[in-house]
Amino acid sequence: MINEKMLITKNTCIAPKIYELTVQGDLVDLIREPGQFVHIKVSDGTLPLLRRPISIASINRNTKELTLIYRVDGVGTKTLSLRSQGDRLEILGPLGHGFPLDVINQGETAVLVGGGIGVPPLYELSKSLSKKGIKVIHVLGFRTLEDTFYQKQFEELGKTVIVTDDGSSKFKGTVIDALQLLNLNYQVMYACGPTPMLAALENGYSDKPLYLSLEERMGCAVGACMACVCHTVDEDDEKGYRKVCSDGPVFKSGEVKLSC
Ligand code: FES
Repeated sequence: MINEKMLITKNTCIAPKIYELTVQGDLVDLIREPGQFVHIKVSDGTLPLLRRPISIASINRNTKELTLIYRVDGVGTKTLSLRSQGDRLEILGPLGHGFPLDVINQGETAVLVGGGIGVPPLYELSKSLSKKGIKVIHVLGFRTLEDTFYQKQFEELGKTVIVTDDGSSKFKGTVIDALQLLNLNYQVMYACGPTPMLAALENGYSDKPLYLSLEERMGCAVGACMACVCHTVDEDDEKGYRKVCSDGPVFKSGEVKLSC
């Protein structure tokens, strides 16, 4: 993990309130697995005080660039959206444990389920799985078709089903509705999105390996402040809790209670 002033090479709006930020620096060399995240100091001043944790959507080791996709939903992310190409951003990372790639073999099929701003880390995951010769199927949920992003990029890697709350895509409903309809044959499922979506997946799809990336509010993001603690499901677990930032954000289904 390093704290680096990374160079912004791109920061553009790609859907309503959704920005694609690309930064360049040595931190990229340290990323071990898809699903890890970085902690960004959004301004050069003292405010806003807290950094923002943002998942890594894509990496390019040749150009030493990483892409982050974030939603503007407060002062911090608003400030971030105003930063320009050529600026430098103080970024701490890579952080956390990501999605395991060694739980699935070449020739097998993985289903990647994402909801809203939980979709971005699945893109680097999908690229990594595809590189290993694993077939990928994406089931991605958004509010409306207008809110959709990276559809083409996911389609280039495998079958991609876009689900929208309002039915402006072909599938109307939730990703859970779509999964029921599709009745997919697969070996491992990976998911990232809002907690109710993850809980519904855990209820209905835990018969096969299922890995969940949790979205949790964070303070330090390095395991020091306990702001992101979730209790374990196993009551005999010695510690009784996990820190989402340093033990996660990816957990195997059944490891932590999803209510946090
Ligand atoms: Fe501080 Fe996880 S955010 S321990």
